[in-house]
Amino acid sequence: MVNKKSIHGEWSSRFAYILAATGSAVGLGNIWKFPYITGENGGGAFVLVYLACVLAIGIPIMIAETMMGRRGRQSPINTLATLSTEAGANKYWHYLGWMGVTAGVLILSYYSVIAGWANAYVFKAIFGGFSADAVEVKATFDEFIASPMQLVFWHTLFMIATMSVVMRGVNGGLEKAVQLLMPTLLALLVLLVGYAMTTGEAYFQGLSFLFSPDFSEIDSDAVLTAMGHAFFTLGLGMGAIMVYGSYLPSNVSIAKTSLYIAGADTIVALLAGIAIFPLVFANGLEPGSGPGLIFQTLPIAFGNMTGGWLFGILFFVLLVFAALTSSISLIEPVVAWLVENKGFTRSKASVVSGLVTWALGVSVALSFNVWSDFTIFNKTIFNFLDYLTANLMLPIGGFCIAVFSTWVMHDKHVREELALPEQQYILWRYLASYVAPAAVFLVFLHVLGVV
Ligand code: PHE
Repeated sequence: MVNKKSIHGEWSSRFAYILAATGSAVGLGNIWKFPYITGENGGGAFVLVYLACVLAIGIPIMIAETMMGRRGRQSPINTLATLSTEAGANKYWHYLGWMGVTAGVLILSYYSVIAGWANAYVFKAIFGGFSADAVEVKATFDEFIASPMQLVFWHTLFMIATMSVVMRGVNGGLEKAVQLLMPTLLALLVLLVGYAMTTGEAYFQGLSFLFSPDFSEIDSDAVLTAMGHAFFTLGLGMGAIMVYGSYLPSNVSIAKTSLYIAGADTIVALLAGIAIFPLVFANGLEPGSGPGLIFQTLPIAFGNMTGGWLFGILFFVLLVFAALTSSISLIEPVVAWLVENKGFTRSKASVVSGLVTWALGVSVALSFNVWSDFTIFNKTIFNFLDYLTANLMLPIGGFCIAVFSTWVMHDKHVREELALPEQQYILWRYLASYVAPAAVFLVFLHVLGVV
């Protein structure tokens, strides 16, 4: 018999869940990562592959993962143990939960470093204002990431903020904060798109970079990155949405809410792209400049526009909050597990997991400066962790979730949870049992050079 309610609590309403899950999905992935990896991978064709992955792989897996969470009602590790017992399957499935928990910690270790950059930029905006000159803006950024002390300081601050929210439980103050922040962030992005339109010729160059696909620009690794990003940006494959699903009241439609969340996430990413690329072209910057891209472009817009001082501050504040609502979902699976299995209080669980993540994050911060020559498989610590988690662990996790929910769980139980009309259920089942796993598998084979 499965539990009716999680011991950690429940969202107060369907709306509260949508906000929290959107908060988990929308974050640095949309505003920081999507533009820079699109720039590195040649634009339009990459965007198209990413969108196709969201539709054919991401959404069906989001439905599957949320459904498993709500049925298991525990941390991903225990949820998988419970569900595999219920299905009469091998207990080893709970290792999938372990992989997810590990991925969450690894992702947060670099996520919090980048969120720290955004946080530092709030202060740069307040005290210096931004220069309207592209060269100066780039110099400011280069100088900033060259300083290990500064990066570690901001990373530490962000980790403290994350852990203090997690300590209070995910459905405390968080629900209310997200309600206000998300719409404001959206409004600011629209404002930035408005500014991008004033760049004339460059605006159209930006749009064409993003939306006219040239498939000669992408290779198998770009396809893997696009697919990995679909998982990353939706927050799939590591148990974040599973643990949020475990706090979901039983009467809420999982499929419908998943569509809203994926829709909102995609809109935010595209808006960020439309705001940023015109600035890249208008200022003669390289689209493929890497992780610093938004920090080297958006300040120029704020430096130029009327009221830019205030908008600049607001934007980076909101970016920090968007990162915060994602980072708590990254660490929640391991916190929930420590509470369930080790008898830790929420506070102790938060401190312990936070410290481990923080320590790893310090090495990431150093990989941008003093340790930039240290490489693992030819990648800096930051690049290695990003590749390992987003391109490998999340897609593998997602693949297993798709397989578990359709090939292992009993059809009757899945139907019960999803409560979908027959046609829609069949469509989901087809996508989750065949299309999504086959697509992930093919992309891996392609990268390995087998097909
Ligand atoms: N989706 C978040 C973002 O785009 C990051 C994230 C990844 C959150 C994995 C949860 C799980 O910023």
